[in-house]
Amino acid sequence: MSKQRIAPLVLALSLTVTPLSAAPVKQTTPMTAEEYEPRIQQATANPKTLAAGKRAAFLCLYCHGEDGNSVQENIPNLAGQNPVYLLTQIEKFGDGRRTDAFMSGLIKSLSNEDRVSMAVYYAAMRPIPSKTGDERLVAAGKKRYLTTCSGCHGPKATGSKTVARLAGQRASYLTEALANYRASKSPRTDPVMTLVARKLAPEDIPAIAAYLSTLK
Ligand code: HEC
Ligand code: HEC
Repeated sequence: MSKQRIAPLVLALSLTVTPLSAAPVKQTTPMTAEEYEPRIQQATANPKTLAAGKRAAFLCLYCHGEDGNSVQENIPNLAGQNPVYLLTQIEKFGDGRRTDAFMSGLIKSLSNEDRVSMAVYYAAMRPIPSKTGDERLVAAGKKRYLTTCSGCHGPKATGSKTVARLAGQRASYLTEALANYRASKSPRTDPVMTLVARKLAPEDIPAIAAYLSTLK
């Protein structure tokens, strides 16, 4: 993460994190993916969840945006992402399978209830796709995506409970995620995606990322 991004954030967090850490210890016993689903269904059916999720997300808005559309390059949009996938990733930051200077610490201060309501809140938001830039690049990316990635991520890249939504994601973040998977070391590893990413030619990555960022 760049220093530029960190400076104003440290200021914002110094105002917000102190009262949180002084609050009573919250329940953060990890849940399994199977346990998330009924919790998410229950929370989605409860009309109070969206407001609770927005409240719980106050520490996240600075980077991921109020409507789940990130405010900076290399920070992922969370809008429209599958809520089970979001919770699984939050769990990964919590137990160290995924690391990020800020995410890893922040996640620990959230209760399971906050995590569930935030995931439902962000899943309900709409990602804002990028405008089509280089049409040839986008067309090449589409071709590669449909032959290599759509079997798991879906023909419209909307993902599933275990596979990330990629449609409307920021191109810079997609590029970085694929580079991390290829390298297969901290901050992020996944055996399936490492195999896939290593089969891509270097020129495929910007093309696929450009294509995905334009999808609704
Ligand atoms: C300082 C900026 C910052 C703040 C504040 C922040 N995040 Fe993040 N978040 C990031 C970055 C950067 C990544 C991508 C890390 C990586 O490349 O693996 C990320 C990744 C994520 C992901 C994974 C998304 C995916 O597509 O895999 C989730 C889920 C997430 N954040 C949730 C949250 C929640 C919930 C909060 C509030 C408690 C929060 N973030 C606060 C910067 C931030
Ligand atoms: C065999 C199934 C499979 C295939 C094929 C596949 N993926 Fe994935 N992908 C996954 C899974 C599972 C994850 C979640 C991994 C994790 O938790 O880190 C993922 C995650 C990702 C992420 C991270 C998204 C985020 O929000 O952080 C990106 C980017 C990605 N895949 C791109 C691709 C691209 C591009 C292709 C085609 C070249 C592709 N994937 C093909 C299963 C697949």
